[in-house]
Amino acid sequence: EPTTAADDGLALHEAVAAATKSTPEYRQCPYPVYRTLREQAPIAKLTPGHGVDTYLITRYADAHALLADPRIGKDMHEGIDLYHALFGDLCEALDDNLLFADPPRHTRLRHIAKTAFTPRHIHALRPHIEELAHGLLDRCPTDRPVDLMQAFALPLPVMVICELLGIVGQERTEVLKWFAVVTRSRFSKDLKGDLEEAEIWLRDYFARHIHRTRLRPTDDFLSMLVETPHEEEPLTDDELVSMIWVLLFAGHKTTTLQIGNCVYSLLTHPEQFRAVREDRALLPQAIEEMQRFEGSVETSTFRYALEDVEIGGIVIPKGAVVQIALSSANRDPEKFPDPDTLDFTREGLQSSHLGFGYGAHYCLGAPLARLELEICLTALFDRFPDMVLAMPTQAEGDWLKGPFPAFRGLERLPVA
Ligand code: HEM
Repeated sequence: EPTTAADDGLALHEAVAAATKSTPEYRQCPYPVYRTLREQAPIAKLTPGHGVDTYLITRYADAHALLADPRIGKDMHEGIDLYHALFGDLCEALDDNLLFADPPRHTRLRHIAKTAFTPRHIHALRPHIEELAHGLLDRCPTDRPVDLMQAFALPLPVMVICELLGIVGQERTEVLKWFAVVTRSRFSKDLKGDLEEAEIWLRDYFARHIHRTRLRPTDDFLSMLVETPHEEEPLTDDELVSMIWVLLFAGHKTTTLQIGNCVYSLLTHPEQFRAVREDRALLPQAIEEMQRFEGSVETSTFRYALEDVEIGGIVIPKGAVVQIALSSANRDPEKFPDPDTLDFTREGLQSSHLGFGYGAHYCLGAPLARLELEICLTALFDRFPDMVLAMPTQAEGDWLKGPFPAFRGLERLPVA
């Protein structure tokens, strides 16, 4: 029976209950829960709100092994209800995308996407991203506090994805408007009508945009996707629409929350903030450390066992959901000594932290995300070197409370 109290006073049954119910305290600060689970139940069986038995993996070594284990699948066609519980009507639009595919479907989609997502393309986006970042900061008031999430972290990543897809001008404004409806209303039943309208609008728009790109390709990412390399079967229109959706979903909230997490981490660690502001050569390493320390993809790594899988003396039965707690693995002292300290001098982080996942589904957009973070932080350092948190009574931060317990980030980030 799980009753032993951990050093920090959290008993195992409390930790399991908090993670199962996704309690507000757990959302606010999940790390004590993860610590207890790592120490006492590193492969913990939960039955969360969506009702499907879930094994939560909290140790680095197990996370690393399972992320690369072909017996742990992602294909949503395999009849698992979880995807419907999580994505509802959007399942159809997301049907053909790589994040929810296994080989050989995943291998083909990933290969095509990777060919289009070249370092040259990403590099070419730099001046556009800088312009977008400064444009947003130009509009931030300096005489009163501003919510950096709304003013900066939220709009920028969607704008960047539009840039990537060649969606510009007035059309971009429309896409941003409808996509905001989708992200706002996904989890609110009251807004269901708006959601359907937005999804239909976006689906039709993406189909038209793809058609136009097929007729007149340029050198943007979408044109590269359309002009598939010869050895692969070309993407169908449905696959292209699905690819656009997954870029928007995978590349938007993750980056938004990560920008917020980085700024928050810096503002609550003034010495590290000063160090990196004064020595910009530290920035790439600092970004990796902040991704380890306060990563935005906390447990959004849904998979399921394709067969019985034994790990650490526990059998995860075929069909069970496997959720890898990246935020816990990244604070595992077995891998990262003194894990709760933000330390920009750690070495080899880029290839060891799991903030961008690991294995076949390793984040396709990682180079772009790193570029966006570097540009955002540099712009903030240059423009507002004296920036401070404007939430003195909320030193703990205003962290997302769910009901979707998979991302870690701030609802609001008031700064002055
Ligand atoms: C996959 C994190 C930004 C596109 C992933 C995964 C993680 C992740 C953890 C693996 C999920 C899993 O294994 O279940 C992040 C973080 C980001 C970020 C923390 C920002 C800081 C982006 C951006 C894009 C992107 C900007 C593109 C515009 C993707 C795609 C996949 C993916 C397409 C699926 C890859 C596959 O299944 O093969 N991301 N991501 N991500 N990410 Fe990112």
